[in-house]
Amino acid sequence: MEAFNKIQELLSEINGAEPTDKEQLETFRIRFLGTKNIIKPLFGEMKSVPNDRKKEYGQALNGLKQAAEEKFNARKEALEASTDEAAYKDMDLSLPAAPIQQGSRHPISIVMNRMIDIFEKIGFVVAEEREIEDDWHNFTAMNTPADHPARDMQDTFYLKDSTTNLLRTHTSSVQARVMTTQKPPIRIIAPGRVYRNETISARSHCQFHQIEGLYIDKDVSFADMKQTLLYFAREMYGPDTDIRLRPSYFPFTEPSAEMDVWLGTDTPATKKLTKGTGWLEVLGCGMVDPNVLKNCDIDPEEYTGYAFGIGIERTAMQNFNISDIRLLFENDVRFLKQFSAVI
Ligand code: DAH
Repeated sequence: MEAFNKIQELLSEINGAEPTDKEQLETFRIRFLGTKNIIKPLFGEMKSVPNDRKKEYGQALNGLKQAAEEKFNARKEALEASTDEAAYKDMDLSLPAAPIQQGSRHPISIVMNRMIDIFEKIGFVVAEEREIEDDWHNFTAMNTPADHPARDMQDTFYLKDSTTNLLRTHTSSVQARVMTTQKPPIRIIAPGRVYRNETISARSHCQFHQIEGLYIDKDVSFADMKQTLLYFAREMYGPDTDIRLRPSYFPFTEPSAEMDVWLGTDTPATKKLTKGTGWLEVLGCGMVDPNVLKNCDIDPEEYTGYAFGIGIERTAMQNFNISDIRLLFENDVRFLKQFSAVI
């Protein structure tokens, strides 16, 4: 019978095969064990085998398949053993192992984590939100409507073909996200990345980091804000640190202020950092504008609150004596590994 003959023929081919390298072994595998292998069709021949020989045929076919598998496994093992040997033959076992590179924390993360710890200690909870925002949360809800001149303050990256979706220009957008989904009392900090269409230079970048703070409850006062920020400054810059609040303007707070910390002018470094004044500008803050509360369906007659926004890069740069902001985003390991000891 032809089918029986074919089995015999293939069996002797398998027995005689000696694949000696990876390629030959792969050719063998494809021919006898691959998804379209040559043995498969022979199973289909079963129907043309006379009944009294079906059993014999089935056994012969299974034997053939098994022979192919055994040959393949044996040759594979032998081949691997011989390549291993060849690889070790020229190996210098006295050479030191390749060093395992230890990771280190990015200076931005170090500063951000420190600030988060400080606020968490007094009950603030981290709120993380999206970096791609709509203009309602980023601007409109924050009391910056479409025709408001303050929109010019920030040059914004809009998403392609969109006049509403943008990369958030500040973490203040998280205020709107939280206030529209949670009921007061609210006490959150929102660390994250923000984007502005600015020319990249040693001092400014089109992406940077902020931490937003928001506190909404009954009877929250400017004095509460000042005390919280003083606590923050003393934890961050030392127990004797003084602060000052300068009147300022932000659309989403009224009144608004900027906070400086006193670093003094004793050393050349602090002199340079503070441009000779002794004061370093650290954050923007203010009482949440009643319009912002209204936009987010919180009754300004019942609730008040304060908010603040801290820029991270400047603090990181001054902390680690980094003179060019671009270094923070290049992720050159030679730069980054310098900060491993400071965690
Ligand atoms: N969003 C402001 C900025 O990016 C920073 C800021 C100022 C945030 C005052 C605040 C605030 O929450 O009250 O420049």
